[in-house]
Amino acid sequence: MKIIAGNWKMNGTRTALAEMLDAIAGVTTENRVILCVPFTMLRNGTDNVAIGAQDVSANVRGAYTGEVSGAMIAETGAKYVIVGHSERRMYHDETNDIVRAKAMRAIENGLTPIICVGETMEEKRAGKTFDIITDGVRESVPENVTDDIIIAYEPRWAIGAGITPTAQEIADAHKVIADTLGYMGLNGTPILYGASVNANNVADIVAIKNVDGVLVGGASLKPQEFVPIINNAK
Ligand code: 13P
Repeated sequence: MKIIAGNWKMNGTRTALAEMLDAIAGVTTENRVILCVPFTMLRNGTDNVAIGAQDVSANVRGAYTGEVSGAMIAETGAKYVIVGHSERRMYHDETNDIVRAKAMRAIENGLTPIICVGETMEEKRAGKTFDIITDGVRESVPENVTDDIIIAYEPRWAIGAGITPTAQEIADAHKVIADTLGYMGLNGTPILYGASVNANNVADIVAIKNVDGVLVGGASLKPQEFVPIINNAK
């Protein structure tokens, strides 16, 4: 069983989501499929697809115009929420501390956070990849967590770029994350790979040790691209 999560980012419509759910309804798979969609499209999942949000407020409630709380997300029927996506870290200055607070708000409301970590090209060139992802996991995962969480490794330089790291680079990064989670007493936490995943490369990627699934951006938007990813990930 692999976890196949789509991240629609700021794309799609409610009609497109209904069409995607219909297309996946006809798929028989052991994989767990999650679609993380914009707030306006949040709804109950179906028999074989769970729905997730892409962000959650770090605050519980109150005077925070424009923010959406964990309780509000849970009320829609969504079960997951991405926190600390690189686009949030980049465009909204989200730090590991903020991401940890968001992950806590998710957990308090029964949502499973998909906590993203990953290095920029500059950090990679400076040889800081393992430091960034180790600190990302240690500082973004709430302390003493006992509920389900998911980690996503997304090398920022490969997102939307049509390039992926080598299998060895993915294996090395996922080992560092698995070891870090092990030190934290969180053995068995699923670790997803994300960045430029498509139907052609997904089988090779999920075959890499410590890769428990994928977080898919662009290729999760159309059924003709996403359904083959679900089918090919074994
Ligand atoms: P792409 O699959 O479009 O590279 O996006 C990856 C991503 O950011 C998923 O969260």
